[in-house]
Amino acid sequence: MVENRLQKVREQYQLPSLSEIVQRIKSGRGKELEMAVIEAMTTNETLWFRDQHPFSNLTEKILPELTSRSSSVKIWSAACSTGQEPYSIAMTIQEYLRRNSEKKLSYRILATDISEHALDRCRNGVYDEYDLGRGLSTEQRMQYFEPQSGHKLRVKQTLRHSIKFEPLNLIHSFKQLGTFDLVFCRNVLIYFPILVKNDILQRIHNSLRPGGYLLLGSSENVGDLRDMFDMIPCDIGIVYQKR
Ligand SMILES: C[S@@+](CC[C@H](N)C(=O)[O-])C[C@H]1O[C@@H](n2cnc3c(N)ncnc32)[C@H](O)[C@@H]1O
Repeated sequence: MVENRLQKVREQYQLPSLSEIVQRIKSGRGKELEMAVIEAMTTNETLWFRDQHPFSNLTEKILPELTSRSSSVKIWSAACSTGQEPYSIAMTIQEYLRRNSEKKLSYRILATDISEHALDRCRNGVYDEYDLGRGLSTEQRMQYFEPQSGHKLRVKQTLRHSIKFEPLNLIHSFKQLGTFDLVFCRNVLIYFPILVKNDILQRIHNSLRPGGYLLLGSSENVGDLRDMFDMIPCDIGIVYQKR
């Protein structure tokens, strides 16, 4: 898979071999090449309300607790791909606040990814029929999107402006982001070797506020760091809470 994906980059940059790609990046001479490799190597598969239960757990378990603790929350979507995850979080919160009009909550969502191309798509907020057909109800389309040419829809400005999109490689420090009440880090840890995964989870743990929540992908778990989190069972799936 690595070879297949990198062959296209090699051809595009007319390099003699894959090791030449590595050499150029290591020598610091290939910033643009490095970006092309990142784009080629990352898998951006995502959809709206992916797996559904993380979002019902957000509505039924996490938001009631967070709103009883504080009137403002900070949320991080730590590998946001093309935006479906952070926009689904924002829609879930808006829906929750509409149904619980007595609750007052200001929220900030930070969404990060290593892929600049994916982040451009997030900021633009324009999705085609294929993307829109993966997990959005008709009501959600009507409420949160506006028509664009070519049967596309764009996320409404109010929702777009509720999220800040920034580039971030999870391998690097993210101390500068501050602390969060809730972190979505879904379907990305599977790509890292175990020691790197543990290191990222340790740093996410550090960035969670007391009692903060972590949501992982359906096939992911906290593994070696299980003593640092409480596993909170929900109707479907589990959420992790900082111990
Ligand atoms: C499969 S998508 C998951 C998107 C979303 N979280 C979801 O569950 O639908 C994985 C994302 O992780 C990003 N990614 C891969 N390696 C990364 C890294 N080292 N740092 C930050 N993001 C990374 C990719 O660019 C991609 O957008």
